[in-house]
Amino acid sequence: MLVLGIETSCDETSAALVSGGDVLSNIIASQVDLHAKYGGVVPEIAARKHVEAIGYVVEEALDASSKSLSEVEGVAVTSKYGLVGPLVIGVAAAKALAYAFQVPITGIHHIEGHIFAGMLSNPQMPFPHLCLTVSGGHTMLVYVKGPCRYEVLGQTLDDAAGEAFDKIAKFLGLGFPGGPVIDRLARQGDRAAFDFPRPLKGRKNPDFSFSGLKTSVVNRFKGRERSGMPLADIVASFQEAVVDHLVSKTLQAASQRQVAHISVTGGVAINSRLREVFTEECARGRYRVYFTMPSLCGDNAAMIAAAGAARIGLGDVAGMDLNVDPSGQLESL
Ligand code: KG4
Ligand code: ZN
Repeated sequence: MLVLGIETSCDETSAALVSGGDVLSNIIASQVDLHAKYGGVVPEIAARKHVEAIGYVVEEALDASSKSLSEVEGVAVTSKYGLVGPLVIGVAAAKALAYAFQVPITGIHHIEGHIFAGMLSNPQMPFPHLCLTVSGGHTMLVYVKGPCRYEVLGQTLDDAAGEAFDKIAKFLGLGFPGGPVIDRLARQGDRAAFDFPRPLKGRKNPDFSFSGLKTSVVNRFKGRERSGMPLADIVASFQEAVVDHLVSKTLQAASQRQVAHISVTGGVAINSRLREVFTEECARGRYRVYFTMPSLCGDNAAMIAAAGAARIGLGDVAGMDLNVDPSGQLESL
């Protein structure tokens, strides 16, 4: 089934064509430079930019896949979880296209998209598996029983992992987004230079928390305390605490649920130290870890199209009354 995916939940305008698990095209117009000077995504600016870009990215996705709209057999759009204004733009465009070409449309939860990015990257990954989605807007651990069958095991109680990277980078004057620059700088630093707290240690629930860790870095290095301290050591120690928290909570859940396969996805899943520690710890604990390919880690429409193909195939089709649900729950079929 040839599915057109549309994703506009945050600051990337994306359209993609996916057919039978193959990504034929995946066009992403990023607004990251626009938001950089504000140190984070400004929802109103993001929505306006989606309006400008949506027509162009859909055309590009069709061109790049050498397909025409009349060949599209279904439309999938992120309708749940994200910024309301940006979501509205994608849903309106998707409904117009589905109506004009009389094809089924389905609304996708943004996290379900990230879960499918893992499956697109690793088609051999078996069920059940655990999927850790770590990005700028979310940190969620899901038990994936099968396609479109989920149980949310844990999520962040405050900031998302990527948000913590972004806020610490902003605090240290390293720019936005913070993850890539901290990842690079941390390679030259001493990971054990500072002993930052590991959040929610000793708790059985695989939930996550980053705001206490962030505050502890800020309190320690605000004002004069920072002078003379090597920046690389600060970010390496901070990153180590984040990675340790993410890996230990995920493996705790894998052990509780007796799941051998772990998928790691979302923008933060690009992080080199996260990949290194997951690989080492999974080998030690006899788990198998699957990383999403970097081109599908960030927000993109191919993951939405893949989820849409599964949902439409299972009969989950929306009507023209499909609406956005910015805080919608991840639902099973
Ligand atoms: O998935 P994504 O593109 O958008 C959201 O859904 O939020 O993720 C963006 C987030 C940003 O917070 C960014 O700082 C983080 O992913 N990120 C990284 C790395 N690359 C991007 N975090 C840590 N290490 C990286 N290499
Ligand atoms: Zn995302």
